[in-house]
This record gives sequence, C-alpha cells and structure tokens, in this order.
Amino acid sequence: MLNVNISLLLVVILGGIRLSDSYFYNGIKSGLEPDLKHSLFLDRVGQCRWQRDLPIFLSDMRIAQRNNTHYVVSGVLRVRRNITQLTTATVSIEICQNATSCRPFIDRPVAIGDVCRFVVDQRNSSLGEVLGRSVPPLVCPLVEGVYRINDALVDYKPFRYFSPHVSKLWRIDLVGESDRKRVFCVRIELYVYSWEDMLPRY
Ligand SMILES: *[C@@H]1O[C@H](CO)[C@@H](O)[C@H](O)[C@H]1NC(C)=O
Ligand SMILES: *[C@@H]1O[C@H](CO)[C@@H](O)[C@H](O)[C@H]1NC(C)=O
Ligand SMILES: *[C@@H]1O[C@H](CO)[C@@H](O)[C@H](O)[C@H]1NC(C)=O
Ligand SMILES: *[C@@H]1O[C@H](CO)[C@@H](O)[C@H](O)[C@H]1NC(C)=O
Repeated sequence: MLNVNISLLLVVILGGIRLSDSYFYNGIKSGLEPDLKHSLFLDRVGQCRWQRDLPIFLSDMRIAQRNNTHYVVSGVLRVRRNITQLTTATVSIEICQNATSCRPFIDRPVAIGDVCRFVVDQRNSSLGEVLGRSVPPLVCPLVEGVYRINDALVDYKPFRYFSPHVSKLWRIDLVGESDRKRVFCVRIELYVYSWEDMLPRY
C-alpha cells in the first residue's frame, strides 16, 4: 500500500514537472500492442557522474525525439588511451523511487563478456545502430581519440520490458573493465508511464 502511494505521489509530482501540455511529444509510445500501452521518456545517457576520469568518457548525449516511436541521440565519446586488452562489461538495472533512492531490479550485474564480440553480435540492434553512427568508426581494439555519434536512431523495443507497474524510474548502468581496471561506466536513466498515468486529470 505504501509503495502504491509513493508511486502515485511520484506520478503527481512528476506530472507537475514533466507532463505538461507537450507530454505526448516528449514521450514515446513504448510497445504498440494493446497490453503494452507504455510511454517511454529517455532522460539521460551519459558518463556515470562519479566516474569522470575513466579511460573512456561519454559526455551527456543529446536526446531528441524523431516521432512517437523513435529517438535520436548524439554525443561525443572520448577515448583517452588505446584499449588493447580484452574488455568485458556488465549491465545492472535498478528501479528507483526518486533520483536518490534506488534498488537493484536484478540481483547482480549481468555479464555480457567480451565487449568487442558483443558489439559485433549487436550490429543490427539499437546499440549497433548507435555505435555504427560514430565518426570515425568505433572499431576494436579501441584507439585513443574523439568519436562523434550523430543522430543515431534508438527505438523503443529494448525498453519495452521496463514496466511502469514495477517502477516509473529505471536506471541501467553499463560498466566495462579491461586488464582488471574499470574503463567505462555509462548510465541510462529513463521514465516509463502507462497511458492511464498520463491521462489528464480533471
Ligand atoms: C519513426 O521514425 C523511424 C525512423 O526514421 C521510422 O522507421 C518509423 O517508420 C517512423 N514511425 C512513424 C510512425 O512515422
Ligand atoms: C594507439 O594506437 C594507434 C593505432 O594503433 C597508434 O598509432 C598509437 O601510437 C597508439 N598510441 C599509444 C600511446 O600507444
Ligand atoms: C527519495 O526517496 C526516499 C525513500 O522514499 C526518501 O527517504 C528520500 O527523502 C527521497 N529523496 C528525495 C530527494 O526526494
Ligand atoms: C545484420 O543484418 C544484415 C542485413 O540485414 C545481415 O546480413 C547480417 O547477418 C545481420 N547481422 C547480424 C549479426 O545479425
């Protein structure tokens, strides 16, 4: 019951801030099936704020909406040294009551193994699309330099499993290690709402 109240409170509070008249233009309809009438707000994609000195740095990406199912993201990735050793990564997912109070949604981070191989396997996915838009191209082994990603398309499909009935605010952390040292940490923050939450209240 308490949780339900907090969720409601959150919707009301966020409603005041975020769900202005333009909310349908800011959100994307995540999941077009009748049972998945969710709206996705991609809030931030960027470096973990407490880890700004890692060998790989992704400044906050610019997120723009193309239409009601697709976003485009743009940003700059700085690679501060050649990454020659095998790089492995983990993904962790958290659900949050607010920006400071989060807990793990999955027990422990999921290992995705060799990042280079993972990226090759993901060529046709959203992630592949984002990385594939880089100038110069991002290829393994990663060479020191500045990589620009321009208007890479991100669609809602990877996010359709983030249910607003579980949490409205979700965090995804992607953390990479090479030679037993952390080399990157990227955080994605997103909100999901059900259409019911978004109906105007009179
Ligand atoms: C939204 O944009 C994407 C990418 O340009 C396109 O593939 C898709 O068909 C568009 N959807 C609609 C409803 O226009
Ligand atoms: C990084 O790799 C590039 C391409 O292989 C090479 O030209 C450069 O000298 C390397 N830099 C360092 C600091 O090792
Ligand atoms: C976030 O939620 C927690 C737990 O409900 C609460 O103790 C804390 O004060 C909240 N923080 C903010 C900034 O609202
Ligand atoms: C990606 O798509 C291309 C063209 O549709 C296909 O030839 C290729 O096998 C796909 N790659 C992967 C890894 O799925």
